[in-house]
Amino acid sequence: MAPIADLGLSIVDNIFERQHAVAWISGIRDKSAYLMEHSLNVAFLLVNFGKHLGFDHHTLHELAVGGLVHDIGKVLVADEVLNKPGKLTADEFAHMKLHQIFSQPVLDSIPDLSPIARDVSLMHHEKLDGNGYPNGLQGEEIHTIGRMSGIVDIYDALTADRCYKRAMSPSEAFKIMMGLTPFHLDPTLLRAFIQCIGFYPIGSLVELADGRAGLVWQENLDDITRPIVKTFYSVRSNHFREVEYINLDKRHDLRITRATSEGALDICVDAFR
Ligand SMILES: [Fe+2]
Repeated sequence: MAPIADLGLSIVDNIFERQHAVAWISGIRDKSAYLMEHSLNVAFLLVNFGKHLGFDHHTLHELAVGGLVHDIGKVLVADEVLNKPGKLTADEFAHMKLHQIFSQPVLDSIPDLSPIARDVSLMHHEKLDGNGYPNGLQGEEIHTIGRMSGIVDIYDALTADRCYKRAMSPSEAFKIMMGLTPFHLDPTLLRAFIQCIGFYPIGSLVELADGRAGLVWQENLDDITRPIVKTFYSVRSNHFREVEYINLDKRHDLRITRATSEGALDICVDAFR
């Protein structure tokens, strides 16, 4: 119970000390549940990434704030564009891009918003070659925090499960993101992010060479490609089978052939988590 009790205390402290922030977060949820989920994910991922890079506690806190408010301008985007289940038309995309313009006065109105949190928000759609928005910043004009926020934003969008598209596995997302270097994303930071998340993150679904599929259960620090996998499905017969934990570090006759996903296998694995 101790971690849950700590979380309860921090919720109480936040409600007393940061009423505006709490109102904001519920405003984001009222606008779109996915926007709320994405904002929280970006905050978690940025803190995780910053911790991996050795940032101090203060900077991690500002990264979390930046993640929570990074898409605040979307509150002013038309609902039919924000929540459209599918590809946007050119006009709709132009309207969606305005969220970065809408964000600026909102961010200006927040007392004591740190430059770090502000940069997370204002730079997460900039590209190294200058073709991003809202300011078309280039190269060194986009510093580390801005580059990190672009990486995290894209990763969360690609791995999100939406009604109109299946979630990509982390390694599928990493492959696409490597294709966005170096003109859009910073290759060195992207490599660090992949290391931080893990090529086969705990809880991700993978397929083994013998046709079994299962969840990555425990990582192996000596070889990140050979974790312990909890298998429970046969891709060959398309049936669930008995649960078996396979330590790939001790089974060199087996290996992971690919990362997969619930959408790709058309199954739900919640019962095995
Ligand atoms: Fe955005």
